[in-house]
Amino acid sequence: MSKLVVTKESVLEALKQVRFPGLTRDIVSFGMVKDVEVAAGVVELHINVTARDEKVPGQIEEDVASAVRELPGVQEVRVHMKWTQPPSAQQPHSRPAPDSPILENVRAKIAVASGKGGVGKSTVAAGLSLMLKRMGFSVGLADFDIYGPSVPTLFGINERPRVIDNMILPLERDGIKLMSMGFLVDADTPMIWRGPMVHQAADQFLRDVSWGELDFLVVDLPPGTGDAQMTLSQRIQLDGAVIVSTPQDLALIDARKGVAMFQKLNVPILGIVENMAMFRCPHCGEESHIFGYGGAAEEAVRLECPLLGRLPLVPQLVAAADAGDPMLAIEAIPELNDVFQGMAESVAQQVGLLPETAKK
Ligand SMILES: Nc1ncnc2c1ncn2[C@@H]1O[C@H](COP(=O)(O)OP(=O)(O)OP(=O)(O)O)[C@@H](O)[C@H]1O
Ligand SMILES: [Mg+2]
Repeated sequence: MSKLVVTKESVLEALKQVRFPGLTRDIVSFGMVKDVEVAAGVVELHINVTARDEKVPGQIEEDVASAVRELPGVQEVRVHMKWTQPPSAQQPHSRPAPDSPILENVRAKIAVASGKGGVGKSTVAAGLSLMLKRMGFSVGLADFDIYGPSVPTLFGINERPRVIDNMILPLERDGIKLMSMGFLVDADTPMIWRGPMVHQAADQFLRDVSWGELDFLVVDLPPGTGDAQMTLSQRIQLDGAVIVSTPQDLALIDARKGVAMFQKLNVPILGIVENMAMFRCPHCGEESHIFGYGGAAEEAVRLECPLLGRLPLVPQLVAAADAGDPMLAIEAIPELNDVFQGMAESVAQQVGLLPETAKK
């Protein structure tokens, strides 16, 4: 009689079938499976779940146990669950209240940030906004990148917003309300920002723009972790931050500084996006890892925050972004579509704007 042996790999494969209740993504790709040990038919699992609904961890535990129990060779399954509740987007955090209420009609303010420039922060901010919109949320995108605003290019805009009753009306594309420093200043004029100017510009964006009622305001922060980023993050009273990094060591060191900055400001890290994670040759199909591989994924494990996804390097994305329609590439390329969708679902779930129990 051949003896059936269960392996860590087969357990992980089985766990990939377990979906987060109500979402399309599985718990492995969400980075919730922290440890798998297999010894003599006994499978021991550590799973960390962030969810508001107390029914979610129980449901996942049940689904995990039954998926693993079905594997040949398994005699016993021990599931250790760690449940963390995210801070509510509706309730004020433990952070100090701003001098006066800001963006009161926005349910969740999410920053997309990176320690280093050019890693794809604006692309991720645009893709995340578009996906949240596609999910039915009302979305605004504020491009606070005072040094190199990208929203005008990404959305193919070269008009200026109108001002009515001293309020700036955001421009709108694909149903998303857009504001960018690039709408207010000449693209060819280099800008030198001093602290007080950043303060002033931030205030103008926050107080003088008619955002109206929004579920999400996605904020494209300037790259780096200096005073400007700190000031902006504090003024906006963020509900969470998404960190973008390439797998490269250098980018990761900077990304870690970004994480530390948000932790210091008490802003929850909603996860890390590994961008330009791999490149598939259009001719031979071979996959190569131009900037290394898996660094951001390992970092997410270390920081105990979700890996929101790994985006491949896709030349069509550059072309679509330059042409002012990144969604064109995102929807046409399933690998991009899936990662952005999973990212948007996870963000919405973590700030409490998605129903968390499965619609059965
Ligand atoms: N996954 C990807 N595949 C291919 N090209 C990408 C990808 N992500 C971003 N890019 C391209 O890389 C360039 C930099 O991206 P992006 O402008 O989003 O980065 P950023 O971090 O916002 O940069 P900056 O620091 O200048 O604001 C752009 O030309 C963009 O189209
Ligand atoms: Mg940018």
